Amino acid sequence: MQKKWWHGKVAYQIYPKSFCDTNGDGIGDLRGIIKKLDYLKDLGVDIIWISPFYCSPLADQGYDISDYYNIDPRFGTMADMDELLAEAKKRDLSIVLDLVVNHCSDEHEWFQKMLADPDGPYGKYFYIEECKDGKLPCNWRSYFGGPVWERIPGTDKYYLHVFHKKQPDLNWENPQVRQDIYKMINWWLDKGVAGFRIDAIINIKKALPFKDYPADRPDGLCSVHYMLKEAQGVLTFLHEMADHTFRPHNAFTVGEVFNEKPEELPDFIGDNGCFSTMFDFNGAIFGGSPNGWYDRTPITPDDYKRCCFESQRKIEGVGFLANIIENHDEPRGVSRYIPQGDCTETSKKMLAAVLFMLKGLPFLFQGQELGMENLDFTSIDEVDDVSTLDEYQVARNAGLSPEEALKAVNVYSRDNARTPFQWSAEKNAGFTEGTPWLRVNPNYVRINAEEQMGRPDSVYHFYKKLIALRKNPRYADTIVYGRLEPVWEDVHNLMAFYRRGEGQTLLVAANFQNEPRDITLDAPCRELILSNYENTEIHGNTIRLQGYQAAILRI
Ligand code: GLC
Ligand code: CA
Repeated sequence: MQKKWWHGKVAYQIYPKSFCDTNGDGIGDLRGIIKKLDYLKDLGVDIIWISPFYCSPLADQGYDISDYYNIDPRFGTMADMDELLAEAKKRDLSIVLDLVVNHCSDEHEWFQKMLADPDGPYGKYFYIEECKDGKLPCNWRSYFGGPVWERIPGTDKYYLHVFHKKQPDLNWENPQVRQDIYKMINWWLDKGVAGFRIDAIINIKKALPFKDYPADRPDGLCSVHYMLKEAQGVLTFLHEMADHTFRPHNAFTVGEVFNEKPEELPDFIGDNGCFSTMFDFNGAIFGGSPNGWYDRTPITPDDYKRCCFESQRKIEGVGFLANIIENHDEPRGVSRYIPQGDCTETSKKMLAAVLFMLKGLPFLFQGQELGMENLDFTSIDEVDDVSTLDEYQVARNAGLSPEEALKAVNVYSRDNARTPFQWSAEKNAGFTEGTPWLRVNPNYVRINAEEQMGRPDSVYHFYKKLIALRKNPRYADTIVYGRLEPVWEDVHNLMAFYRRGEGQTLLVAANFQNEPRDITLDAPCRELILSNYENTEIHGNTIRLQGYQAAILRI
């Protein structure tokens, strides 16, 4: 595997709407990001992915773009963007944008032109089908509920949207669409962005012609996944895109890739892959049910361990994964992967240690470094997210009571991670002077950046230590490139692995339970590098791990 400049780095995702508001409208903005660059630099991150801030009606929080070349006024101006790029450069921070090109907004000029003349050239920018007898071209269910087909007003034509109806799918089969997209990508790269996180990209290739798959719910529809399994040729599009854009710019790219076929991995992220890296969603998709969130199986520490090791095995020698415990589409990692009732600063630090010591690029989501937790929604009215509203309805339709349905969405809602960043114990967690667009988690009085930055044993400072450790020349080569080798894999509630580098072996051991346990190595421990406990008992080859202790050792 070729070494790349970004391998030893640490990445951080900003969800701009919830990061920092500077003008009191309750919505975070680009100036808020500029204001906090020193915070990020001080934390030690290098690469910053910012979720969309382009012009958008915000039907899906900016993942519905009406103008790829401009900034939504709610987020700021192009002058703010230029300043952000310049200020980031001064601090040696790389800015990565969100590339949302499976679909645009129905308010995008292309869609508006299509509406004016569905049979004209812009009709070919989308998937438009004539439905004379009212029968839809296929029975796929949109990711946000309901059929993927929406009628074009005043016609018997329908357009395809695998996400919300305000997110019409772009027709990648049309070379003109691809050219327009590549032009836009190059425009941003020329402006100085370091690369892109690539949204929902697996969906760009449809299995055509449209056809039904067996219904998987009482609504008579089926998940888009059945189609995606059959679709062939997404990589042809992706290599073409990379050739025209990323490769000549040497851009950093991270794909939101789900359900890839194992044999395709090298094509995605190998030395000649179309992307630099892609997220590991193995833990995030665990326990999924075709019935929806209400029917999901929660993940246990043993499941989590298996998910991580499975990913590590499939990737060994192929490429580099981007490791996460959460993002703007997932609940908070500490609320998900730490058994209920055990979520403390100690266990949060343990989870962080595991994440950072896996092989791959650690990707933090804003607030993760503080151990921000899920929000306890008290009513569905507090939810903004389209997907959560749909899942609530799905649960209700399946016969769950409002309370039960709310409980289910509380666990998985995308809004859990989208609550405003908790900067301080001041009003609205210091996020805004106005009314925040989404409820602030009331635990901000306890969990906030200001308090944690002033307290050396906080979660924040532990993240800082992990980031520094990844860059410490004494261990960096092993942490970044060392082979990962699971150990004591079958031991309940223990996650342990070696990282074997050139002439150096590290052991990472995490005790996912309150009960202490002893682990005995076959070689003496040479050095305790980092732990989330102040004192660690080591007797010869035996180490006592306290409840939720993580230890990083050199052996
Ligand atoms: C991706 C985004 C998600 C969005 C969807 C549609 O999964 O991360 O937030 O809703 O794509 O663009
Ligand atoms: Ca604002």
